[in-house]
Amino acid sequence: KDGYSLVVVANRLPVDMSVGEDGTVEWRRSPGGLVTALEPVMQESDGAWVGWSGAPDLVAEPFDADDIRLVPVTLSETEIARYYEGFSNDTLWPLYHDVIAPPAFHRQWWDTYRRVNQRFAEAAAAQAAEGAIVWVQDYQLQLVPKMLRDLRPDLRIGFFNHIPFPPLEIFQQLPWRKQVIEGLLGADLIGFQRGGDASNFIRAVRRLTDLTTRGQIITVEGDDGKPGRHVRAAPFPISIDSKKFDALARTPEIQARAREIRADLGDPDIMMLGVDRLDYTKGIRHRIKAYGELLQDGRLDAARSTLVQVASPSRENVGAYQELREHVEGLVGRINGEYGEIGHSAIHYLHHSYPPEEMAALYLAADVMLVTSLRDGMNLVAKEYVAARSDDAGVLVLSEFTGAADELVGAVLVNPHDIDGTKDAIARAAVMDPREQRKRMRRLRRRVLTDDVAKWSASFLGVLSAMPSRTHHV
Ligand code: G6P
Repeated sequence: KDGYSLVVVANRLPVDMSVGEDGTVEWRRSPGGLVTALEPVMQESDGAWVGWSGAPDLVAEPFDADDIRLVPVTLSETEIARYYEGFSNDTLWPLYHDVIAPPAFHRQWWDTYRRVNQRFAEAAAAQAAEGAIVWVQDYQLQLVPKMLRDLRPDLRIGFFNHIPFPPLEIFQQLPWRKQVIEGLLGADLIGFQRGGDASNFIRAVRRLTDLTTRGQIITVEGDDGKPGRHVRAAPFPISIDSKKFDALARTPEIQARAREIRADLGDPDIMMLGVDRLDYTKGIRHRIKAYGELLQDGRLDAARSTLVQVASPSRENVGAYQELREHVEGLVGRINGEYGEIGHSAIHYLHHSYPPEEMAALYLAADVMLVTSLRDGMNLVAKEYVAARSDDAGVLVLSEFTGAADELVGAVLVNPHDIDGTKDAIARAAVMDPREQRKRMRRLRRRVLTDDVAKWSASFLGVLSAMPSRTHHV
């Protein structure tokens, strides 16, 4: 075999790997929005996936898992600290999410980020067939498009940014802003979640380089008098495998599990639900504060309401995440201490992640879904809730600061910074007339079931394949 015709490059492989006692490599499926989004596409095409195993110093040969060729990239402990926890999640992540937490700029982290991006680019170059499509994913790998083009000018290269792209005034804080832009411009097509992200990027190109842009097209100068190359930057809002969630939630087992969850919670009048990685961008504290005040004001009956908050463990070596955990757990403890009783908690706080089956049951059980991100590229949880509600019931309370808010007309929109406004929206959702719920949920469902992840990837790959090829085969 001379290589794969579609190569996905992402920070993580869609599995967690570890070395067993006998030295053999073991793997199991891992959670995460990106994996959920891309898995169906990879299984359908002859694809290879280049990514990190999630463990330090793990060296493994490429292998097949669930019909996908997986190509592990090895990261040392120091590289994990500087490239993944450092530059990706303590510099870029807060910077790209409106500096909700202060980004840290360290030259050593940047050096490692560059070196690790080079390793990913080389691994992808080794897998791709002549003229193949390589699709690079997310902020951890922004330098890969250019590095890959230098190695393999025959490839068609796409990049998709799953998180927001910040306004110029914030982006320009990055000491290596120019290198990041040049890295991305190695791609033929650069996809973003929202139109606003694409225009932020184009504005950054105009202000920080000498290149000319026209609409979505950026003209990159050719080397040594060669003609210029066109790069397109455009929105491609990501989605979920909606039919899978819909089907899951229609099974009698999951419906029974949903009833069991409500019974275990003491059959509350109102069950609210939050589902997030434990991340400071998700507005978990704002949500819990609003909920606590509603109990305090007596607008929600503390004995008849409950909030289930799933907060899945995430990036636990990064300081800002450790601080967030302290804050959230303190807040939950205070509210439960104040409003809980024997046999009833105001908040059920679960620091775990769950398989899709349990998630579907939780979504079905919940009267009100709370998504209150302060900034979020898309937010797939909002779409999963909608896809699971084949009964056309339930209310989605959704932050204006998510990509999903651009699409999900029918949700009750909130500004999570406005605690009074958020309280009003939650209170309104809690008593919403079933007819209005149905009307809104049907509208939401039409959108989510039509615009699923298969359509997302087909649309991105379709635009990428249609772009003029610049390689002349001799
Ligand atoms: C977000 C990012 C993904 C990332 C995921 C989980 O959705 O856009 O790139 O994989 O979070 O975070 P983690 O750091 O555990 O991979």
